[in-house]
Amino acid sequence: MRIDILTVLPKLLESPFNDSIMKRAQENGHAEIHIHNIRDYSTHRQKSVDDYQYGGGAGMVMTIQPIADCINKLQTERIYDELIYMTPDGELLEQSHCNALSLKKNILILCGHYKGVDQRIRDLFITKEISIGSYVLSGGELGAAVLVDALVRLIPGVLNDETSALTDSFQDGLLAPPVYTRPEDYEGHKVPEILMSGHNAKIDEWRNEQSILRTKKRRPDLLDE
Ligand code: ADE
Repeated sequence: MRIDILTVLPKLLESPFNDSIMKRAQENGHAEIHIHNIRDYSTHRQKSVDDYQYGGGAGMVMTIQPIADCINKLQTERIYDELIYMTPDGELLEQSHCNALSLKKNILILCGHYKGVDQRIRDLFITKEISIGSYVLSGGELGAAVLVDALVRLIPGVLNDETSALTDSFQDGLLAPPVYTRPEDYEGHKVPEILMSGHNAKIDEWRNEQSILRTKKRRPDLLDE
């Protein structure tokens, strides 16, 4: 999968993709992540990328020209399955979006800043608008990092143990059960006996019960769905 990210703060996106699973996914050829500095595309003499909003009001708006030029250039090179705009007024990101997006070949992600982008960019280019939560970030970069992380780990072959993404929270509409590792007894706090029984069917049953209990308690909305 190829992911192109358009941002005015490319530095913010350096470290999230240069460690651990994200780094390995790129080294192994499962994901190709390209960061584009929108400012590089500005034809303005001071390379500006924003301007005052029509109608007045506080806050600057990202201008059409550099974003449109960048997207148009990239679109001459390949066809994008989705052009995503990260924005607090987008659809709330869910595991189901990540599952679907992880199967795509080329996606483009536009990070908003200031008061956001000129509406015409959204109307003319964007196919999906995503929010990572009901709060406002300073820009779309951290949202883009969350989205890319959540979907790259789902690309087949990215995780060592392929089944581990399938047992994540949300994959079956339930939260994941508690997990334990050594020591068996930490200052009197013991690992549930069933996990040491070696009885796989019983362990699966226990984990499923724990998932349901946890979901009922913490995210009853998931059970309503
Ligand atoms: N940009 C600013 N806030 C955001 C949010 N909650 N999700 C995605 N992009 C954003």
